[in-house]
Amino acid sequence: MDNRRVAIVAGCRTPFARSGTVFRDLTAVDLARTCVRELLERTEIDPAAIGAVVMGQVVPSVKAPNLGREAALGAGLPKSVPAHTVNRACASASQAIADVASLIQLGHVEAGIAGGAESLSDVPILHSRRMARILVEAQKAKSLGARLRVLARVRPHDLVPDAPAIAEPSTGLTMGQSAEKMAKENGITREEQDRIALASHRNGWAATVDGRLAAEKCAVFVPPAYEAVTADNLLRQDASMEALAALPPVFDRRYGTVTAGNSSPLTDGAAAVLLMSEERAKAEGREPLAYVRSWAVAAVDPGGQLLMGPALAIPMALDRAGLRLADMDLVEMHEAFAAQVASNVQALESDTWAREKLGRSAAVGTVDRDRLNVCGGSIALGHPFGATGARITTTLSNELKRRNARFGLVSVCAQGGMGLAMVLER
Ligand SMILES: CC(C)(COP(=O)(O)OP(=O)(O)OC[C@H]1O[C@@H](n2cnc3c(N)ncnc32)[C@H](O)[C@@H]1OP(=O)(O)O)[C@@H](O)C(=O)NCCC(=O)NCCS
Repeated sequence: MDNRRVAIVAGCRTPFARSGTVFRDLTAVDLARTCVRELLERTEIDPAAIGAVVMGQVVPSVKAPNLGREAALGAGLPKSVPAHTVNRACASASQAIADVASLIQLGHVEAGIAGGAESLSDVPILHSRRMARILVEAQKAKSLGARLRVLARVRPHDLVPDAPAIAEPSTGLTMGQSAEKMAKENGITREEQDRIALASHRNGWAATVDGRLAAEKCAVFVPPAYEAVTADNLLRQDASMEALAALPPVFDRRYGTVTAGNSSPLTDGAAAVLLMSEERAKAEGREPLAYVRSWAVAAVDPGGQLLMGPALAIPMALDRAGLRLADMDLVEMHEAFAAQVASNVQALESDTWAREKLGRSAAVGTVDRDRLNVCGGSIALGHPFGATGARITTTLSNELKRRNARFGLVSVCAQGGMGLAMVLER
């Protein structure tokens, strides 16, 4: 790792929008190519110097399943630049960063773009298997009469769409139900969850007003009028504990504590970072924002506490970096749900948990709340599944530089019981 350090040169993202609003008519490809094009323009990199593009997407389009390739072509990169798409659920963009970093470390490429996009306004709506079979048979029918006879088999219930759910295929539980289970089993109170949500909005708002987040965003020109969208539209200036406390629980209406206010919302957006070998960055006279020091992925039983992957991945990534949690100047933890953040932080701080799950004698360490998600998190800013890891990495890299700090930690929980952690250094 020390021989060929991977530099994070720059990052940018589109504004993040509640799905079904300003980016309603755009696709993930539209958002991703806008973001990648902007990154190329801002960094003034020679497009021919890009050796690879890797993008994350969790709910891919059936018509354009390789988002990475479409984004690269759409952004005007040379057609000779290979590109692919990864799916590690909500950690996809972080996985894309790890993939490009690996290519650079191996010496396969000198520079690459990693990121991701999601349009939850544009999820594929499926028909039932029976309806799909009828449609395929009708298409193959040799005459109009035969086609009509096949179509006459359609019954009203066949017309009911089969929309994808944000649920674990292996357990059937939704993410929200899993967060609810974690809150109950770990004794995470409603108040604690709402405090995390409030901090997310307060920090996000402060970083927006003072321009820190604005600098990371590119405008998206939305047809037909091509008006520029520049603002995140989920962030609330007026967030308060009172307003959060008034919201009803969503996933367990009677006894639950997880609400629309302390969950990440369904979001459209894209984000990307430019990575380079240290040598190449230096040769081009660039001052990297930060370097990738280590990363790790861990997985837990999805039938247990689904979103505890980060608590396992964090000590692994820290060990690989030869560092401790206490060395981290800033921590960015993706907020799928406040209950998941609180549960993971609690685990990291627990001696018992460290003994039982890690076989260690003492806790991994404490997460100083003043260093956690200092520019807001996914609850307030939004969470386009495939893009979040690149949003977090961009913000953390910029903030490390701004504070002249040394080490930063990224963690992202993901469907399937996985968690990804990455240590950045300056
Ligand atoms: C939680 C969830 C079901 C809520 O969906 P929703 O009901 O469409 O959410 P909305 O944004 O409409 O919010 C519901 C209400 O709460 C209000 N609200 C949300 N956040 C609030 C806040 N911080 N303060 C005050 N009110 C708030 C909204 O204004 C809305 O009020 P209204 O009904 O009067 O318009 C949805 O966001 C969800 O599924 N999130 C989880 C996504 C997920 O699983 N991600 C995977 C994570 S890895």
